[in-house]
Amino acid sequence: MIPDKAPGEDVLHASGDLKKEAHVPTFEKYKELYVKSVESPEEFWADFIKDFFWKKKYNGKFLDYNFDVTKGEIYVKCMEGASTNICYNVLDRNVHDRKLGDRVAFYWEGNEPGDQKTVSYRELLQQVCKFANVLKSQGVKKGDRVSIYMPMVVELVVAMLACARIGAVHSIVFAGFSAESLCERIIDSRCCLLITADGFYRGDKLINLKLIADEALQKCRDKSFSVEKCIMLKHLTKEDEGTTPGSLSPPAKRACPDLQVPWNPEVDMCWHSLMYEASDECEPVWCDSEDPLFILYTSGSTGKPKGVLHTVSGYMLYTAATFKFVFDYHPDDVYWCTADIGWITGHSYITYGPLANGATSVLFEGLPTYPDVSRMWEIVDKYQVSKFYTAPTAIRLLMKYGSEPVQKYKRDSLKILGTVGEPINPEAWHWYYNVVGEKRCPVVDTFWQTETGGHVMTPLPAATPMKPGSATFPFFGVVPAILNESGEELEGPSEGYLVFKQPWPGVMRTVYGNQQRFETTYFKKFPGYYVTGDGCRRDKDGYYWITGRIDDMLNVSGHLLSTAEVESALVEHESVAEAAVVGRPHPVKGESLYCFVTLSDGINYNQKLEAELKKLVREKIGAIATPDYIQNAPSLPKTRSGKIMRRILRKIASNERDLGDVSTLADSSVIDQLFENRCSTAV
Ligand code: WTA
Repeated sequence: MIPDKAPGEDVLHASGDLKKEAHVPTFEKYKELYVKSVESPEEFWADFIKDFFWKKKYNGKFLDYNFDVTKGEIYVKCMEGASTNICYNVLDRNVHDRKLGDRVAFYWEGNEPGDQKTVSYRELLQQVCKFANVLKSQGVKKGDRVSIYMPMVVELVVAMLACARIGAVHSIVFAGFSAESLCERIIDSRCCLLITADGFYRGDKLINLKLIADEALQKCRDKSFSVEKCIMLKHLTKEDEGTTPGSLSPPAKRACPDLQVPWNPEVDMCWHSLMYEASDECEPVWCDSEDPLFILYTSGSTGKPKGVLHTVSGYMLYTAATFKFVFDYHPDDVYWCTADIGWITGHSYITYGPLANGATSVLFEGLPTYPDVSRMWEIVDKYQVSKFYTAPTAIRLLMKYGSEPVQKYKRDSLKILGTVGEPINPEAWHWYYNVVGEKRCPVVDTFWQTETGGHVMTPLPAATPMKPGSATFPFFGVVPAILNESGEELEGPSEGYLVFKQPWPGVMRTVYGNQQRFETTYFKKFPGYYVTGDGCRRDKDGYYWITGRIDDMLNVSGHLLSTAEVESALVEHESVAEAAVVGRPHPVKGESLYCFVTLSDGINYNQKLEAELKKLVREKIGAIATPDYIQNAPSLPKTRSGKIMRRILRKIASNERDLGDVSTLADSSVIDQLFENRCSTAV
């Protein structure tokens, strides 16, 4: 399946220097390790297992699973029966056994230039122990779910690791989500406590996070689910004088002492006061390998988000290994992943993977364009970043401003560049490689999902010759296949559904509270395979090219959104009878949201309604789902059985007149009308 030799033509190679020190220096070595990882996984993973601390070793199978719905329940178990603690492994082990206590864990860089703080592994461990004691004092126990809704501050890492330390399950909700979305996630996972902050700045914009968190808790109460404990970190307002030991992220430079933070003494507690009293010693709670570690919600094609559940040991091994190999990690690296911890990329490649390796990372609160479009490169020089990981949408955004803002900074510390989140178009790839990396740094285009836990298709920087836009080959232990509509495996150059034939340690274990949805979403269409929902092409050299989602999902700036979720927000407006949402290609965001709305009888479309609809979607889901286009569509193209033909709507949205086969359309006269009313400019 993987060629013995990588092709020599039409590819780009890493430099000799990089190869000299690389963990996997050649394609042949990659292939050899790959075969071992698939044929004898236990042997392959032995080195990683040895590195970690186990209170009790496993004695059964390394991986036990069923991937075939026709043979019974789907399950994956990795090292079941072993006992460990991931927080202990990423902190105590580094501080005590590996003597890395003084090593910097995070260079925190705030939204405002000059707002910064350095946190060592020892300090991080101390704070995590304290906060774990705080959680215990609030009655949080092993298995309880804790919701975290915070900006990009070190305390977010502290909160998640403190949960992991006591075996509680964190459910982090991205701080850009609305009160409604937070409420939905809190109720679905039945969280017992919420951790949040007063507020934060995103560039110039002040976000009063506590206000939104309070609204969410009120919405929960309205739905008869009450969370009566909320811990708030003071990030923008002043910490309580006299009672505070200081926080890891200093109050923002552009602090906001007058921020109106709502406070309910029955529910709300101050992070700093609780920490002041807490002891910094806390014995970890030993967990079984298959105990839950966290829940992270991702969009589902039926609209309701799915709580993807990951468990302790497999996820720990997998994030540690992918981080080490894909970024070719070495102890003198300074690594920077620009994702938010509220997404899986931040979970796996800001917190767990880097810390498991004892790495030093930059943790950035701000935006790539604030205060100006050189901010990223200024930070790269400031901390001498050697490994840099970002999203294609950020690259395309910066590309618009040309090379001059990049070239204002040296960037000579950079060695490897990475991308994640969506297919990267070759133009953006070349700009990243040529301008940012000055043709010196391989680009690792990492394909993966919230569900996969870590990278599944990716180059290894020194070993895999690159083809711009291709995620290349599988990571160790991952066995991809391409299927046609009838579920037959295609050989050689082909295009179809990307699926995986067997589990790897980091794959999700279930949808929280809904095993049936887990099986239906990922395993039902093609029994025996995990179905990614992405399309894929394999070229003559065996390289895999992800072509994008083939279900009703959109990828806007690297964020997955379900069209159904946006549609159900739109139809909540009393004037909207029906809505259909499709993606329209966008030069920076990848895709933008194009919404067709059919209004109720007698209602006229106007700008006021348009503004209300935009607001409604923002309130229901969050700013990331704000519609870019809203078109008044008195009728939608439907099949005779009444199914909306989105394929046609996608063409209309991007003004493509060649509609292909329209024979199943019930009434073809709607098409001309839809083209006539097209929106050419964004709302
Ligand atoms: C897309 C993000 C092409 C894909 C880690 C996937 C990509 C979805 C790539 C998962 C890539 C992610 N090339 N497409 N390198 N990386 N995707 O769950 O459609 O937020 O299914 O996880 O993003 O998004 P999620």
